[in-house]
Amino acid sequence: MCGIVGYIGKNNAKEVIIDGLKRLEYRGYDSAGIAICKDGGLEVRKAVGAIVNLEQVVADPAFDGPVGIGHTRWATHGVPSEVNAHPHTNEDNTIAVVHNGIIENYVEIKEELIREYGIEFRSETDTEVIAQLIGIYYDGDLHEAVNKAVAQMRGAYAIGVIAAAEPDKIVAVRKDAPLIAGIGKGCNYIASDIPAIMERSRQVYFIENDETIVVTADKIEIFDGNNKPVEHEAFTVTWDVDSAERGGYDHFMLKEINEQPKGIEETLLRRLDEDGNIKLDGIELTKEDLDKINKVCIVACGTAYHAGLIGKYAIEKMAKIPVEVDIASEFRYRDPFVDEKTLFIAISQSGETLDTLHALREAKRKGARVLSVVNVVGSSIARESDDVFYTWAGPEISVASTKAYTTQLTIMYMLGLYMGRLRGAIEESYYQRMVSELKEIPAKLARYLEKQKDVKRIADRFHRDNEMFFIGRGLDASVSYEASLKMKEISYINSFAIAAGELKHGTIALIDQGTLVVVLATQDALFEKMLSNIKEVQARGAYVLAVAKEGDTEVEKQADEVIYIPDCPDELTPLLSVVPMQLFAYYVAKARGCNIDKPKNLAKSVTVE
Ligand code: AGP
Repeated sequence: MCGIVGYIGKNNAKEVIIDGLKRLEYRGYDSAGIAICKDGGLEVRKAVGAIVNLEQVVADPAFDGPVGIGHTRWATHGVPSEVNAHPHTNEDNTIAVVHNGIIENYVEIKEELIREYGIEFRSETDTEVIAQLIGIYYDGDLHEAVNKAVAQMRGAYAIGVIAAAEPDKIVAVRKDAPLIAGIGKGCNYIASDIPAIMERSRQVYFIENDETIVVTADKIEIFDGNNKPVEHEAFTVTWDVDSAERGGYDHFMLKEINEQPKGIEETLLRRLDEDGNIKLDGIELTKEDLDKINKVCIVACGTAYHAGLIGKYAIEKMAKIPVEVDIASEFRYRDPFVDEKTLFIAISQSGETLDTLHALREAKRKGARVLSVVNVVGSSIARESDDVFYTWAGPEISVASTKAYTTQLTIMYMLGLYMGRLRGAIEESYYQRMVSELKEIPAKLARYLEKQKDVKRIADRFHRDNEMFFIGRGLDASVSYEASLKMKEISYINSFAIAAGELKHGTIALIDQGTLVVVLATQDALFEKMLSNIKEVQARGAYVLAVAKEGDTEVEKQADEVIYIPDCPDELTPLLSVVPMQLFAYYVAKARGCNIDKPKNLAKSVTVE
């Protein structure tokens, strides 16, 4: 997510903003910039990469003043570059804007500004559209111009705006993206998040949705969606800085687990039009293209590979195209059958995993079309792909991947449904039902996440175990592999996952009295089989923790403990069943005192072979 900092007061805006942007570095970013108003003018300076690069370009004392806005950019539209970095300005550089979020209808506004006003855009971003739009409406009243511009915008955003002709104020707006105002002495602040300003002010206003604020050095005015003044009570920040960066959570992993409803919603809903048609962000994938494809190869590593397993199921079931899924480090050395009839899908949160990048190059060399599913705009895998379908999970800081995984699954389902409908492989009624069910997942997941204490209680009981097993059938087997990886990589417990039907072919020899076996039993069609597997391991002394859908109370008669997830179609259960498994691993690791966000021997981005 992008970071916003704004200051108005004495002549030291630059220092305050740089400090604030540094406090927001944990949110992840690829470029940064500052706009300063002084002497009736407005100047913007930006840099790609770390904040230290920005510090170099703003070093001269002349670049400073009483009011300014700054920004750290996490690219969503347009690759990381100086021209795409914020702040963005209107044509005559008299208005500057910083923005966190996505303007869904920026293309239509941009086209209208070009057609009606001959605006010449400099960047690829949706943010520049905001600056140009405000510039068109501006006639001496910044608050009014912002209101007019915002009335035309659709999407989720927090924006901060300054004008050369009104250097005594900052105007900011909140719509579905965080925004706070900080109360200073003879000065005031705006920011995306508390850490940016908490060293300077611990009295903040949380700005509510659709509210606009007009901030001067001595007051903060708040207006509701109908431009009526409203009062807020200031919140006193008592957090320490580290806790504030995690949004009050103890670890980034727990924060990111809880961000999954939002990530799935962003990844899904911004690509659905009002009739439920899936849009692939400009990716050209026509029926003719699909008719030329005789198989899909999904290649990835670790958690992304586990997402690929779900992708295999989704694309085969919904698009009726054969899918091979491979671990990248194996794919590239087996001289794979890949040619121009292959659609190669690379999945990677970081977009920098070297094994996956090399596999992608091998596939391209063999003539395949390459589509990547990536969470980092402009990353190496994104740049070397023919098409990129971005997950919009936001920066994932914790080494253990959680929200990236569920947004990767979301895209697997979207691709399966899109291709299946295009090929006529599924009925329209099935397509519409699945889209409707997918749209309900974020709310179901948010509701489930309110019950985390059940999982914590179970985790506290089993955190001293030295081994544990995860089993399932079909999609539940694939989720078991991910559940086991989460457990081993953050708790260091030697966990093991296996398809339940395989147990009797050897692994069951390891089940002893008291062995914890986590049984994922969410697939209606395989439920009876899973009940048999529960009996099978219990006969060897296992303690069975089952994961089942609400309403499947039969499992309570068999399992020793049950975690229920909200009901949903079998196809979509991984989006929900993985979350108690993420939480289970988290709370076990926490009870064991492990370094959860930075586990030993692991890196967030594996750029070695
Ligand atoms: C998952 O929790 C691990 N951090 C690891 O397996 C990771 O999924 C793998 O290294 C792939 O990373 P990528 O998605 O950035 O390519």
